[in-house]
Amino acid sequence: MITFDETNCYFHISTPNSSYVIRLYGEYIPQHLYYGKKLDNLNGILNDDEPFVPGFSAIDREYCEEQITTDVVLQEYAFYGSCDLRKPSFHAVYKDGSRITKMKFVSYKIYKGKPTLPSLPATYTENDDEADTLELLYRDEVTGLELTYTYTAFVKFDAVTRSVKAKNTGCDAVNIKEIMSCNVDFPRSDFDFIHLPGAWLRERHIERLSLISGRTHIESRRGSSSHHHSPFFALVDKCCTETQGQVYGFSFVYSGNFEAGAEVDSFGNTRAYMGINSFDFNWMLKKDEQFIAPEVVMVYSSEGLGKMSRTYHKLYRTRLARGMYRDTERPVLINNWEATYMNFDEQKIVDIARTAAKAGIEMLVLDDGWFGKRNDSQSSLGDWFVFKDKLPSGINGLAKKVNDLGLKFGLWVEPEMISENSDLYRSHPDWCIHVSGREKSRGRNQLVLDLSRQDVCDYIVKVLSDILSSAPISYVKWDMNRNMSEIGSEKLPPERQSEVAHRYMLGLYGVLEMLTQRFPNVLFEGCSGGGGRFDAGMMYYFNQYWTSDDSDAVERMYIQHGTSLVMPSTFMGAHVSEVPNHQVGRVTSLETRGNIAFCGQLGYELDVTKMSEEELDAIRAQIEKYKTISDTVHNGDMYRLLSPFDSNYVAWEFISNNKNQVVVCYGTVNTLPQCKNNFVKLEALESNREYRLFGADKVYSADVLMNIGFAVENQKDFSADLYVFEKI
Ligand code: DGJ
Repeated sequence: MITFDETNCYFHISTPNSSYVIRLYGEYIPQHLYYGKKLDNLNGILNDDEPFVPGFSAIDREYCEEQITTDVVLQEYAFYGSCDLRKPSFHAVYKDGSRITKMKFVSYKIYKGKPTLPSLPATYTENDDEADTLELLYRDEVTGLELTYTYTAFVKFDAVTRSVKAKNTGCDAVNIKEIMSCNVDFPRSDFDFIHLPGAWLRERHIERLSLISGRTHIESRRGSSSHHHSPFFALVDKCCTETQGQVYGFSFVYSGNFEAGAEVDSFGNTRAYMGINSFDFNWMLKKDEQFIAPEVVMVYSSEGLGKMSRTYHKLYRTRLARGMYRDTERPVLINNWEATYMNFDEQKIVDIARTAAKAGIEMLVLDDGWFGKRNDSQSSLGDWFVFKDKLPSGINGLAKKVNDLGLKFGLWVEPEMISENSDLYRSHPDWCIHVSGREKSRGRNQLVLDLSRQDVCDYIVKVLSDILSSAPISYVKWDMNRNMSEIGSEKLPPERQSEVAHRYMLGLYGVLEMLTQRFPNVLFEGCSGGGGRFDAGMMYYFNQYWTSDDSDAVERMYIQHGTSLVMPSTFMGAHVSEVPNHQVGRVTSLETRGNIAFCGQLGYELDVTKMSEEELDAIRAQIEKYKTISDTVHNGDMYRLLSPFDSNYVAWEFISNNKNQVVVCYGTVNTLPQCKNNFVKLEALESNREYRLFGADKVYSADVLMNIGFAVENQKDFSADLYVFEKI
């Protein structure tokens, strides 16, 4: 709900358990008054809000009658150019070389529903009763630049979204150098900062640190949100755990260069911010043009990190994810990558499919190496026609053979890339991101196509549409395997070169929108060397994402645990792969690999043709078991019971929406010898009910399970077990 109190000039944005309060302070400042636990009565909120003017700070004379300085006022949106010298949300250069922006209030609008963001991914509503929206319009009278701040409060989720639109109603071009999607100022600094740093094969490990005086900052300059930093952070109470303490989550619905962080000033205030990275960014906004800064989804929880995650999970899987597969269970797939890499032929793929069918697998995904003359990473990206030497029946012929074996067929592509050794490059050497006269640096021997160009985007849409129409393809794995370097476009004039990275994202979003709309029955899985671009922006187009190229079950305990801070299990591609594991050399049992993969979208990535009948039977049994719990894991609520970052163990609980089924995955990294059985306490069971542990003939009351717990057997190193409880 969003209300406006005309007497006090407050906007009160509320969700089921949170309040966000903005005050129109004079004509110039939307003052931030409060974000936190829901307030039913705002009386007295300003009683003690005395203006404070620290020494050395300049006074904003025209802002209001009182002597104030925006250097310390909590503001909804901060500008560079006047007295606020903290991290600005907006910084622009005007025609006369000045960098001063002063926004004056024009009007506000409150309405039901949520607007879409043109050309950008965003959360959505299915009908207008699901959300309320506030738009605040401000204008700079000197330059004619207008800014609209949009806030949406979801009625059923504790989530508030924000975005910003800049429109140039003046005569002269404006160069925007910095445009955050939000800042939130807090009158306190005693927070911890939680975020998800990582690397290729080691994505989204949880890091928690105390805010410093000054900035705690994360960012990507890599052309994508990257493996290194995830566009998410949370500010939390020092005492915050999974189940208690206040949490403010910030998640960016964007897949390119971003920056985010928190700045603590000298007076105990904290400014949280998130937006497109202002490093190497400039956007020239000509008369009548507009620029939209992507959406930030803010989630407040007064009950710890677990509650925050469950809010993100539910919101993202129901109001960010789209299409048929949003609400449909996905097929269990087998991917040939770790079985064959690029060394395969049609017979080998058909053999894998035939054996996989016997084991109950439902879809075969043909990975890299099927196109152009591709036998290694040196060639062929861009030449999206079949490599006949390997696949004489073509993709259509192979897909039909796979279908005849009872499996769906899926295909890997990497459409954003180009190899110099390709027909496409020979015809269009200017189509890659580059700067004339400079060496083009290769990553995995490839260059990045320039998706800031419409002709390149049109080519990708056409060539992908041709492939998808040419054969019964039910699934696409969309990969992207390098960072950007020498960022430049031949199509843009010099003054627009710093727009390339963002224009690339807009181009990519346009391509993905077109293809996912054109092929609504195809399941699209995103990938970027595993989880390199696994962000909320991508999940508007892809129903699932290859969580990491590291498929080792123990590494996945960490990666899936960290990823679950924001992303629901239904988004996480998780495969049972070969042992010794190809990334870390670890040997784990088939059961352990299965149990960890059950906590995402189950797939297999090993050479089933080399497996014994017993092993194939074990896979069949795994899939049968998975089918009995997958709805709970994918659509139920997740509780992180034990963290591998804090202990030798991991435990995740998934509880079905009707609370009838509870699935617990318990993993051990290193066993402690001579240790009594561990007890695991469950959460959120229906009180006064009893639960039967499947396969053990043991019945527990909800009280016992939640307060004493159940004993998990002493584990071996690198193992994971699954426990399923049914409500009686
Ligand atoms: C990187 C992906 O993450 C892998 O799963 C595989 O598809 C390779 N690319 C293929 O080149």
